[in-house]
Amino acid sequence: MGVKSMQTKFNAKVFPDGQTRLSLQLQTSSDCIVIPFACVELAKNYSLGNIFKHLDESLDGAISLAMARGDFTGKVGETLLLSQQASWLTKGIKAKRILLVGAGNIATQPDKATDAKILQDFVKSARAALKVLMCTKSQSALWLLDSGFAAAYPQASVDFIRHSILLMEESFYRFGQRFDHLKAPPLEGYAPVIKTVTFAVSVKNEKLLKESIRISAAIAAGMGLSKDLGNLPANICTPAYLAQTAQNLAKQSHLKVQVLEKKDLEKLGMGSFLSVTQGSVLPPKFIIMQHLGGLTKEAPIVLVGKGITFDTGGISLKPGEAMDEMKYDMCGAASVMGTMLAVTEMKLRKNVIGIIPTCENMPSGTATRPGDIVTTMSGKTVEILNTDAEGRLILCDALTYVERFKPKVVIDIATLTGACVIALGSVHSGLFTRNQQISDQLVAVGRDMLDTVWPMPLDDAYQEQLKSNFADMANIGGRPAGSVTAACFLSRFTGAYPWAHLDIAGTAWRSGASKGSTGRPVPLLTEYLIRA
Ligand code: BES
Ligand code: MN
Ligand code: ZN
Repeated sequence: MGVKSMQTKFNAKVFPDGQTRLSLQLQTSSDCIVIPFACVELAKNYSLGNIFKHLDESLDGAISLAMARGDFTGKVGETLLLSQQASWLTKGIKAKRILLVGAGNIATQPDKATDAKILQDFVKSARAALKVLMCTKSQSALWLLDSGFAAAYPQASVDFIRHSILLMEESFYRFGQRFDHLKAPPLEGYAPVIKTVTFAVSVKNEKLLKESIRISAAIAAGMGLSKDLGNLPANICTPAYLAQTAQNLAKQSHLKVQVLEKKDLEKLGMGSFLSVTQGSVLPPKFIIMQHLGGLTKEAPIVLVGKGITFDTGGISLKPGEAMDEMKYDMCGAASVMGTMLAVTEMKLRKNVIGIIPTCENMPSGTATRPGDIVTTMSGKTVEILNTDAEGRLILCDALTYVERFKPKVVIDIATLTGACVIALGSVHSGLFTRNQQISDQLVAVGRDMLDTVWPMPLDDAYQEQLKSNFADMANIGGRPAGSVTAACFLSRFTGAYPWAHLDIAGTAWRSGASKGSTGRPVPLLTEYLIRA
């Protein structure tokens, strides 16, 4: 099935530092120049900083006029869109539009704001700019970073480029445009996707920023894939579709992909995984994706993603309300696939393995019954008290399978529990690990990428709740601390390596009017791999 490539191209263009920088930027042909605008003496006295005096003059006073009218003050999130006038051309301004974006009073801020605050402001301003940009017919944009937020803190430009690109991915994504056989376009048509975005850089940071663009574009591509897979319905995005998508990736890159079939899983003794798939007419798949960009002897980092393409609950059937959202129960798998795409695109020099156990959880005459006992690949037995706690049942066998890779670290990613949504909402993904180092790393990376995680407990005391009278353990631990007991269940299969579990039930997709996949936690995982 054809996925339309709507990918924006990101470039860098070097401009000399100094007095003439802005005028040279204005002489560049572009549908729109986006200029962060830091004003001096915000609110009290709307006066222009020196660099903008010249710009204002070139624009026949358009900025000072808008400020005098109170339409634009330069506050974070404000925008001023100016359209090319005949007079611009006589002054050599080739841009069709100039979009000023309020960057606040950063330059003169007395008590230096924290990095996090500046980043927040930047994101707010970039979102506002993109909203306006998307309402124009612009197909190309020149994105300036240096006149407003620049030099806010070391590395600022790298962060701003990274978040600009991730925000553009967010703004430009249109499911209906990518899958136009599923959704007719609006009568007025879609706003044109910006085809090229050029970032203005300096000689001194050219290399660094070009690298940042390359990496961010790869992450954006990974998020796009992850969102597409999440948003596709379960009658299209089946286990076989996920396997085919992985195999297509292998054709376009150095990724090594192998798909295990049901008979292979039987041979491996994955009784737990197989018990989840047995009510479905669609065959399960076990997808292995290897990006071996590091040294041969270097231990790999393994990502394991829950790939339930639809979770009805099985015989422990879910209530009907919002059940459609259970097509998103493969978002862990989608984030692993997206991250694998990102690391191959950026040619990361590390060994990374992505594992996706995938099947449907359906009720039927052949489905698992509550009370059934199954034997996992590890040999431990599980009494399935609730067939709706199926994620842990497919993951536990995958977590045993990955021991063969002698991994440096294993991270599993799963839309595992409704309880995690109750605990953390849609802000943070739940992080469960006994490894302090991995915890610290993931928390820090999450903060930098605005794809945050929150550490949750994993004490042995909770293991009590998984006791079974008839098997080695039960697959549920009751309502209290539901996301913790789910993690406890998984922990019993991870003794052979350092491990962390991410519960993304609240963060992987949005409900309601803006229903859709978020692409999280692709930014977190990819940046973690880069730094690991
Ligand atoms: N996929 C669900 C978790 C889920 C539910 C995520 C709602 C997002 C929104 C998972 O398979 C599940 O059904 N978990 C049960 C576990 C329970 C039976 C112990 C849950 O959370 O209710
Ligand atoms: Mn379930
Ligand atoms: Zn589920």
